[in-house]
Formats: sequence, C-alpha cells, structure tokens
Amino acid sequence: MIKSTAFEFINRSVRTLATVTIALSAVVLYRNPADAAGDANNGAAIFIRQCSLCHTIAKGEPNRFGPNLFGIVDRKAGIAPGYKYSSAFLAMANWTWSPDSIASFVAAPAKTIPGNRMGVFQGIAERDEQDLLAYLATQK
Ligand code: HEC
Repeated sequence: MIKSTAFEFINRSVRTLATVTIALSAVVLYRNPADAAGDANNGAAIFIRQCSLCHTIAKGEPNRFGPNLFGIVDRKAGIAPGYKYSSAFLAMANWTWSPDSIASFVAAPAKTIPGNRMGVFQGIAERDEQDLLAYLATQK
C-alpha cells in the first residue's frame, strides 16, 4: 500500500517534470527567432562597452576619436560633419553602410579597410553582432 502510494507520487513527479521541461523548451525555441533579429537593449550595452570609448551615437553629439554614428545604417560612409577621416578610409569606403557591411567592418576593422584608424580596435565577437546591429538601427 505504502509502496504503491510512493510509486504514484514518483510517477506524478516525473510527469510534472516532463511537462515543465517541455514548457521550458517551448520558451527557448520561441526565443530563437527574436534572437536572430537582434536584441536592441543588449546591443545598447554592447555599444557602451565596445564602441562608446571612440564613438557617440545620439544626433548632434560631438565626434570623439571616431565619428558620431547617428543614423549609420543607410548612411553614406565618411560623411560625419566635422570629422577628419583618414585617407585610407576615404580612399576605400565609397559605399553606403548596410547592416551587412557594418557587420563585416566591426568584426575586423583592420582587415576590411587596411590602414584605417579604427584598426586599433580588434573587432566584436560574432555572438554580439545581431544585437549591436539592432541597436544601431534604432539610432536614426
Ligand atoms: C579605438 C577607437 C574605436 C572603437 C573602439 C570603435 N571605433 Fe569605429 N571608428 C573609429 C575611427 C577612428 C573611425 C574612422 C576611421 C578612419 O577615418 O580611418 C571609425 C569609423 C567607424 C565607422 C564608419 C563611420 C562613417 O562615418 O563612415 C563605423 C560604422 C564604426 N566606426 C562603427 C563602430 C562600432 C559599431 C564600434 C563598436 C563595436 C566601433 N566603431 C568601435 C574608432 C573606433
């Protein structure tokens, strides 16, 4: 009698655990598409940690060691008012920044535009890319 009650209890616990596990997996799976699109809040934190030493991003903020990045997604390269770009940068960067081109540049600045002055920055980790891009896109 006691044995069968204990068995039922364990059985129920196992079933509850299984339900919880399935529910948790569903939450994790559901989160994945959002992660692919990038989390702008996390991107803001990444920007502060990795970019703000050299860049401002709000409209009208002064250039630092690097140019102000307001509206950088879909902005022509090399046009921040009052910023003196390096000749290496100006000679090569004759494009308009897209999420893809920003991603390759910030992943490896020295390789993408040899001799540019952001080359001292070693680049961001791949796992930070989508969140950072989502944040940059909100700053326009
Ligand atoms: C060590 C300083 C430094 C850090 C850190 C840095 N940058 Fe830069 N960045 C620069 C400089 C300097 C330039 C201009 C390069 C030149 O003129 O040679 C630049 C240029 C750029 C440009 C091109 C802007 C334009 O007007 O075309 C983008 C985009 C950019 N940086 C994004 C970023 C992002 C995003 C981060 C953070 C992940 C970052 N940078 C981190 C110094 C830095």
